[in-house]
Amino acid sequence: MSERKEIIVTEEDIKKQKDIINQMAILNKDKYLKFHIETYGCQMNVHDSEKLAGMLTEMGYQHTDNLEDADVILFNTCCVRQHAEIRIFGRVSQLKELKQRKPNIILGICGCMMQEKEVVAAIRKDYPYIDMVFGTHNLFKFPEILQEALNSDTTVIDVWDDNSNIVEDIPIRRAEGLKAWVNIIYGCNNFCTYCIVPYVRGRERSREPKDIIDEIKSLADEGFKEITLLGQNVNSYGNDLSQKVDFADLLYMINNINGIERIRFMTSHPKDISDKLIFAIRDLDKVCEHLHLPVQSGSNRILEKMNRKYTRERYLEIIEKLRDNIPDIAITTDIIVGFPGETDEDFQDTLDLVKKVKYDSAYTFIYSKRKGTVAEKMPDQVDEDIKHKRLEELIKLQNSISIEKNNEMNGKIVEVLVEGTSKRDSDKLTGRTRTNKIVHFKGESNLIGKFVDVKIIETKAWTMQGELISEQI
Ligand code: SAH
Ligand code: SF4
Ligand code: F3S
Repeated sequence: MSERKEIIVTEEDIKKQKDIINQMAILNKDKYLKFHIETYGCQMNVHDSEKLAGMLTEMGYQHTDNLEDADVILFNTCCVRQHAEIRIFGRVSQLKELKQRKPNIILGICGCMMQEKEVVAAIRKDYPYIDMVFGTHNLFKFPEILQEALNSDTTVIDVWDDNSNIVEDIPIRRAEGLKAWVNIIYGCNNFCTYCIVPYVRGRERSREPKDIIDEIKSLADEGFKEITLLGQNVNSYGNDLSQKVDFADLLYMINNINGIERIRFMTSHPKDISDKLIFAIRDLDKVCEHLHLPVQSGSNRILEKMNRKYTRERYLEIIEKLRDNIPDIAITTDIIVGFPGETDEDFQDTLDLVKKVKYDSAYTFIYSKRKGTVAEKMPDQVDEDIKHKRLEELIKLQNSISIEKNNEMNGKIVEVLVEGTSKRDSDKLTGRTRTNKIVHFKGESNLIGKFVDVKIIETKAWTMQGELISEQI
């Protein structure tokens, strides 16, 4: 069992991975080995899984949706809320029986949960049938870890505390050929008092603009039409780079790339929304009219305790400026109810803000105590019953607003990027508007991958039905 913690990644470390990938590819030729990855959590994890899948594919493994068929199984985990962790431990327990039946199978757990010392200790103690454990900072080292696990009888554990380097050129196996995720900044410096992400993803590190542009250019060459720029806080992009470049500058550069038609990004922190960025969204034709702007609470008292660094007044001012400049912009958010010390009055402030902003949709969460965060130790943790009641009330309010907002779309003609056939209704196509709303409509499958104009004829809280008007040229 080896446990190694380090910060610096050397050229040799990276070359070693490439060599192992090549060796494994030769070794695995004609063996028809398969891999299965189960991903939890946010888009960061979804994209990390695409990198793991990329490395596995180059090593000669093929993807399978079926756990039973796989020779390598990976669980890429999330620890943002306790509920997620409990679910993952439950799934990991189920793997025991599979390992007994198929002892040659390789089981790995990775991702954010593995950055928590207690979790690794629990796996070491109670889940000895797991073959490999690694974290978020040494994903690039997966080929070496897998090779070690294949040659070891005990669990290979390799978790790093941090990593100040960015490793480029990891192969990526993207799930589809139309829309792609692209990392622009890793980690988070904000330390919102409820949040575990800065502890498991480390400090902010921006990718060099050239690396980002090169990746997007090659995606355009492969036929990708839409990209989503990823970061825990994309608005602080560039702060740590020697070149003077910010997020708005990056959007200008990407907007010039031929072949890419839509640019999205997530997530934005309200404290860092500049006028320059608002004008970039307004002026750049490819940047979509949608902003995910997590507010978390509508109460100034709670926002301060959360260390969010803005007030509700400032937040509302940003919303007003956004709508003045980009009238059709869709705005979505994240809200937490039941943060320690949240009174009825604080919660009413949140409801009031939701009514004022009229979000297109909102992800709503019950506060979950996370080990090692500042809020864990705060007094006045809110009663579970009250948290649930507040969540219910908030969801009810937001649903009625979502319906009202979508109703406004009735009769309008919108641009839709056709993504595929509808899962529910196979003779319908499905796609998204620039404002990120899902539209179903009747049409031929040769429209998949194309931009079409669709007239909205029926709306619900989450989806809309439309009628094909014309294909765009
Ligand atoms: N970096 C992004 C997203 C972070 S995690 C951002 O800052 O917006 C996604 C969401 O999970 C957060 O916006 C927050 O609403 C929620 N969240 C984070 N920690 C939480 C906790 N301890 N309990 C409940 N919800 C939490
Ligand atoms: Fe967590 Fe706050 Fe960072 Fe988002 S900005 S990841 S909520 S600490
Ligand atoms: Fe979860 Fe890690 Fe994302 S904790 S929300 S998967 S950054």
